[in-house]
Amino acid sequence: MDKNARTVVSITVFPGGKNTNKNLVRSQKSMDIIVMPTAAEAEFLTARIIADAINAKPFYKLGLATGRTMENVYAELVKMNKAGKVDFSRVISFNLDEYVGLKGTAEKNKDSYRYFMNYHLFNHVNIDKRNTHVPNGFAPEDELEAAAAAYEEEMEDAGGVDMQLLGIGRSGHIGFNEPMSSFSSRTRVVTLTKTTFEQNSPLFKKPEDMPMRAMTMGVGTCLDAKRLLLLATHKEKANIVAAALEGPVTSMISATALQLHDNAVVVLDADAASKLKYKDEYAFQFANDPKWAAYQPVARKSSRRKAK
Ligand code: GLP
Repeated sequence: MDKNARTVVSITVFPGGKNTNKNLVRSQKSMDIIVMPTAAEAEFLTARIIADAINAKPFYKLGLATGRTMENVYAELVKMNKAGKVDFSRVISFNLDEYVGLKGTAEKNKDSYRYFMNYHLFNHVNIDKRNTHVPNGFAPEDELEAAAAAYEEEMEDAGGVDMQLLGIGRSGHIGFNEPMSSFSSRTRVVTLTKTTFEQNSPLFKKPEDMPMRAMTMGVGTCLDAKRLLLLATHKEKANIVAAALEGPVTSMISATALQLHDNAVVVLDADAASKLKYKDEYAFQFANDPKWAAYQPVARKSSRRKAK
């Protein structure tokens, strides 16, 4: 199969599992930007979008992300799963990235992204761990390239990723696609930047233990997902979010690649959105787009909602 071929048919997901829009050729041409007042509300909305998508298509191929931003999203999904509101039993997951150069095994090393995923999500929901995939950054040095290629094949064999969850790093990276990553890049080993070292090393017991390499899906790999869902919260992301969403498309900020995707949703809290120029437009669109009707914070009082 041609790796660059992308499916143009998608299912528009409506909450409650009703696919009233099944098999329509995608009509969305612009990104949806949703700004919630608080981080907690943004995290909850993100979890709901994921749960609704799984409920609409149980054999869902879900791309997952790590980072502090995602911790509460996973906590919400765990709650929903325990309450019987979302079933992970047939979900197949693919994580974005993994460090290269950590000691021991992915399962046992507390700094690994495999450990993060088990700890925050997989250990607490009814997902079959055999269906969870994280790039094999623990492969021996001379097998890393083959492991990266194998990861691409696994995604392809699964029929591609239905929705890829993304965070954004201070360097503008999605996954670990640091500045200058080609928009056609695939899963590979990369060297991390100083900005990323400063961002992530405080999470390590000894900051100097943070590896300077990682295996990450490429920007091209992310763009192949049928839907993208990016979450960013807190003031520290405000500048990079504005550059990523409203700035020119550039490989210096890999998150600008979202502008090239035709089914991307960005969820922000007010702080992360604070530097956006066109906030009012995004709020108006969110308030009036029927696709988001069930996600409105309060019941509709009139047919034309005013953006807050
Ligand atoms: C790491 C991950 C990214 C993530 C970023 C943001 O670098 N590789 O996928 O988006 O962290 O991290 P945080 O959510 O902690 O700000």
